Amino acid sequence: MKVLLYGSGAREHSLAKKILESAQLEKLYLADTGAFFELGEVIEFSDFKDLAQKAKKLAIDMLIVGPEEPLVRGICDEFRKEGIFTLGADSKWAKLEGSKIFAKEFMANHGINTPPYMVIEDKNKIDKAIGKFLNPPVIKADGLAAGKGVFVSDNFDEAKAIARDFLEGKFNDSSKKIILEERLFGREISVFSIWDGKNLLNFPPAIDFKKLNSSTDAPNTGGMGSIFPFVLEKQEQKLLDDYLEKLKKALKEEEADFCGVVYSGLMISCTKLYVLEYNMRFGDPEVQSVMSSCKNDILEIFSKAKEKKLDEIELKFADAPSYCVVLASCGYPFNPLKGKKIKNLDSAKKYGVEVFFAGVKKTDDGFYTNGGRVLSLVKNGCGALDDIYRVADEIKFEGKIFREDIRI
Ligand code: AMP
Ligand code: GLY
Repeated sequence: MKVLLYGSGAREHSLAKKILESAQLEKLYLADTGAFFELGEVIEFSDFKDLAQKAKKLAIDMLIVGPEEPLVRGICDEFRKEGIFTLGADSKWAKLEGSKIFAKEFMANHGINTPPYMVIEDKNKIDKAIGKFLNPPVIKADGLAAGKGVFVSDNFDEAKAIARDFLEGKFNDSSKKIILEERLFGREISVFSIWDGKNLLNFPPAIDFKKLNSSTDAPNTGGMGSIFPFVLEKQEQKLLDDYLEKLKKALKEEEADFCGVVYSGLMISCTKLYVLEYNMRFGDPEVQSVMSSCKNDILEIFSKAKEKKLDEIELKFADAPSYCVVLASCGYPFNPLKGKKIKNLDSAKKYGVEVFFAGVKKTDDGFYTNGGRVLSLVKNGCGALDDIYRVADEIKFEGKIFREDIRI
């Protein structure tokens, strides 16, 4: 199979590595790629239509999309027009991630449990609306906002100010409408499913460490570390199984005509399970742990998805957990320091730790920091976490930060 992987972060680097292990791979192509560009042949392009036409000429069999933004902008629509299979939703279904209001309506229509909420468009209605909540509500921009569109506050005045800021155009069209949502407290899990138009293949839950550090008022990030799997207690597993059945039924009833990831961001709070969000792609850094544990041939899974036969896949995972620790650059998630040389990357080899590139620039002179989350350090098995932390200490760059508590 000739496969095109789209995206530039540590999520895509770990997917690229997994794809390269597949017995079904003939050739890997990369688009909009990152510092791991040497793993495949890079295709330059002007827009999605151009990329889809180039892919057609190269007889590429499958497009795999890493991030959400191209999905929402319709990359898969263009590839479908060329008759190329896409592991990723078309723009219609990418709205489950691209519009929180669309996602809420989907859940309401199918009896899926989600925290109570209100939609606001008019900034003059903010005070009255927020006054109806017992605790300061979570403020969410309706559209995509590069992971920055959700604000959790302990303070009513702050929540009002943020809501105003959003509606006044902080995220342009993405925050023209906002959601005010009841704040919940509980255990968050990330569950990846792959939908093939008929079957829903569910992975066990992973844990994402979303806060910048362990302090309760630390800012939310894209994710500072992950653990897979996270074993639920029997009652919780039952809640999850019931929810996943509902999700499958909902997608069936909607005749959702796409093949791709549905990632449910869930919270278990007071013996109930709530959907906080849908994402239509794998989570970063959760997928780095999932791929390190997964024993299946990833292209076999995706090929079965293409044939709408995901029910024939039995997922297999390593016996011990996998861990991912993110090395970030100080200033993240607001204004990360960039352009600093990364040293001792080779130290990872001696501990058997995999290193995936995110905010990294490769030059003739080596690797430099180029973003907030810089590297993902990943290992499976007994003692894996100790080895990851040894490598986290040995790799050096100015401004390096990481969480030292990526454990359950
Ligand atoms: P979302 O993009 O909707 O998942 O929000 C990002 C993060 O904000 C979540 O992973 C949670 O940590 C937090 N969050 C979102 N909604 C809520 C909520 N209703 N109650 C508490 N925390 C929330
Ligand atoms: N780790 C959260 C996300 O990928 O959105």
